[in-house]
Amino acid sequence: MYKILKTDGRAKRAEFTTVHGTVQTPVFMNVGTVAAIKGAVATTDLQEIGTQIELSNTYHLHVRPGDKLIKELGGLHKFMNWNKPILTDSGGFQVFSLAGLRKIKEEGVTFQSHIDGHKIFMGPEESMQIQSNLGSTIAMAFDECAPAKADRKYIINSVERTTRWLERCKKEMNRLNSLEDTINKSQMLFGINQGAIYDDIRIDHAKRISELDLDGYAVGGLAVGETHEEMYHVLDEVVPYLPQNKPTYLMGVGTPANILESVDRGIDFFDCVYPSRNGRHGHVYTKFGKINLFNAKYEKDTAPIEEGCQCPACRNYSRAYIRHLLKAKEMLGMRLCVLHNLYFYNHLMEDIRGAIDAGNYKSFKDERLYLLKTYDK
Ligand code: GUN
Ligand code: ZN
Repeated sequence: MYKILKTDGRAKRAEFTTVHGTVQTPVFMNVGTVAAIKGAVATTDLQEIGTQIELSNTYHLHVRPGDKLIKELGGLHKFMNWNKPILTDSGGFQVFSLAGLRKIKEEGVTFQSHIDGHKIFMGPEESMQIQSNLGSTIAMAFDECAPAKADRKYIINSVERTTRWLERCKKEMNRLNSLEDTINKSQMLFGINQGAIYDDIRIDHAKRISELDLDGYAVGGLAVGETHEEMYHVLDEVVPYLPQNKPTYLMGVGTPANILESVDRGIDFFDCVYPSRNGRHGHVYTKFGKINLFNAKYEKDTAPIEEGCQCPACRNYSRAYIRHLLKAKEMLGMRLCVLHNLYFYNHLMEDIRGAIDAGNYKSFKDERLYLLKTYDK
């Protein structure tokens, strides 16, 4: 159940209640693609860094270790020892961005595994079955995330097929949720809006999927090569056509600035690999922008990554020490950077929620955007 607690302009402060607990939104989902947060972060660490919800991937877990195995072992929550909400992406994006040679038909997509090249077929029903086997809290609809450079005609056909796929997803999810041996019979389904940067196609699609009364709605097909301004424009145009009494999720986004701007356009859920990927490369976030710990100027820097930060890295270690670990290729260096970055994102969201609660989101956003430019150009 989604309950709006407060609005400030278009920004929404809400609570989303699931069988695995309540999520305070706006929220950043911490990405654990293969049921692991990259950078040697354990699910037992997540409590300490303020993680509310984790995201894993249908495609990856289907290929390895296999969703049937995970079901046999009691489902994804039990498998990875995480009892809070989990959202699984449908494979719709990964199939198109990762897998080799693919063929799209009305029934679904045939493609090659990125692990061993074997042929796999996935359509809306298969994606729902895999996500049901995983038993995630929220399943994403199986969609096509079309290439940014695709022409209008291609996008129209693709979006129409994605709508038909969504109807099939809904039907299959209802069937699976009613089966006796289903792990999570209350599994939720989020639809995904597509349409590239064509306002009219996006709006048309938003209206059509809104009629299906799903548990939430995502905006997909963004952050795939368009400019930030184009992405904000799509959100300005399309979010008002998605149901206001349901959560909205901007898939795969983004930088702290992207999040600040998108919350202001009505987005509740985010996910992105940036904090973990950047952390693994020694790039760490601060209120004043990102810094690169490999930089020689941190060699004798006894300060924490960010003054005042209460994360496990900043409470215990200096920039100089973490820089040394990174240079020595010690796993602990990566781990501390990733813990800090995820803490930073989770707490950025907490500050965002506080500002909406206080009714001063606009001035908070402007201040944080201004500070972020101190280090980053
Ligand atoms: N992750 C980022 N963008 C997308 C998208 O358009 N579709 C899906 N399924 N996942 C995504
Ligand atoms: Zn920190």
